[in-house]
Amino acid sequence: MAKRKKIKLGAIVHGVGGHVGAWRHKDAITDASVNFEFYKQQAQKAEAGKFDLVFIADGLYITEHSLPHFLNRFEPLTILSALAAVTSKIGLVGTLSTSYSEPFTVARQFASLDHISGGRGGWNVVTSPLEGSAKNYSKADHPTHPQRYRIAEEYLEVARGLWDSWEDDAFVRDKESGVFFDPEKLHRLDHKGEFFSVQGPLNIARSKQGHPVVFQAGSSEDGRNLAAKSADAVFTGHESLEEAKAFYLDVKNRAAAYGRSADEIGIFPGISPIIGHTQEEADRKYEELASLVSIDKALQFLGRFFEHFDFSQFPLDEPFPDIGDLGSNSFRSGTDKIKSKAREQGLTLRQVALGAATPRTDFIGTPEKIADLIQRWHEEEGADGFIIHSSVPKGLDDFVDLVVPILQERGVYRTEYEHDTLRGNLELPIPENRYAAKALSEA
Ligand SMILES: Cc1cc2nc3c(=O)[nH]c(=O)nc-3n(C[C@H](O)[C@H](O)[C@H](O)COP(=O)(O)O)c2cc1C
Repeated sequence: MAKRKKIKLGAIVHGVGGHVGAWRHKDAITDASVNFEFYKQQAQKAEAGKFDLVFIADGLYITEHSLPHFLNRFEPLTILSALAAVTSKIGLVGTLSTSYSEPFTVARQFASLDHISGGRGGWNVVTSPLEGSAKNYSKADHPTHPQRYRIAEEYLEVARGLWDSWEDDAFVRDKESGVFFDPEKLHRLDHKGEFFSVQGPLNIARSKQGHPVVFQAGSSEDGRNLAAKSADAVFTGHESLEEAKAFYLDVKNRAAAYGRSADEIGIFPGISPIIGHTQEEADRKYEELASLVSIDKALQFLGRFFEHFDFSQFPLDEPFPDIGDLGSNSFRSGTDKIKSKAREQGLTLRQVALGAATPRTDFIGTPEKIADLIQRWHEEEGADGFIIHSSVPKGLDDFVDLVVPILQERGVYRTEYEHDTLRGNLELPIPENRYAAKALSEA
């Protein structure tokens, strides 16, 4: 049997955090979301821990009830370009929405990041859950959930086509003869589809890793199909190993149905470890963080997943209200999960809101416990790797200093980078240039 791949790791760098109250923690850096030194320190720490990648999430619409981090933060490609200059091995993956952008611009931006970083760029493809985004992009309506995925599918085809505009040896740059490029190796896309009309070619060549690595975040049926068909990796979230295993198998099977091998797509659940030298210390850290979240803030946090719905109109200690279809046009996979769990477990509104805003996951405990869980999820095929969130200040530092050495000692995680490209480290194939491949097959 082939040797199993080692565990892959990504660090989500998220300023003051994806947690409602984290910015109020006594050790929090309150301007972290717009503090370059903070991002630089986190990226360099992740690189010292031999992480595969740094991950930047994003959104396109805020209200006064949004999370503190969402109110005032860096645009992903801008911060990643800066981080490219202060790191040398770690991958740089940024979120960008296919519902509110143009493929020519975006293909060009990610190709540029990929060149600037020497083949370390990656794109987290999202479809934008929030209806309000339309108001920021001169659009009358937010596309429906299925339509957003149809757009995303065509969008990715266009981007991949544009990335192949130039064959790898197209630029001759021969001063003597005056030949800058070989016109035979330049290709126009001439795409005309349902949503996009793009002639090409793109005005930048392929990078060292061929195409930037494409992540996809969205776990509904449509999201899984998009990932299975055209993504290199999936960012997802699970509450249990059982759930993770079912998702993993499902996406790998869907990829096989599209004629791809299971190794061509990596599954990365997000986890938020809270680490203590003892279980009690870790529990105390969790409680300290949870105490910073009022019930009002928890209701607002929950409401954002449901188009900023006002849950404060319902009694807190009665069963989670019946809100019909609400949420299915935004964070569908997430809101479906929240509703079905509330129904199955008979949870009150208070329990659902606090559960969403301050989740008590299994990943709270000693470094050994966290390492055991990570190894188990990987061995039992619930994950190829993990995206590590730091919900407590210094969370990433604790992970790199305390958990990484255990995983390295056990031989399940690298002690040195194998490659200098993101694709190389993730053990993903370099996509062939479609035109060069065709020419070769016809030769
Ligand atoms: C783990 C995960 C992370 C996500 N991260 C982002 C993000 O950073 N920005 C964003 O606009 N949407 C993000 N999304 C939302 C998706 O892009 C998508 O719009 C939404 O989840 C609905 O798709 P789904 O029902 O297929 O999950 C994320 C979704 C998941 C599951």
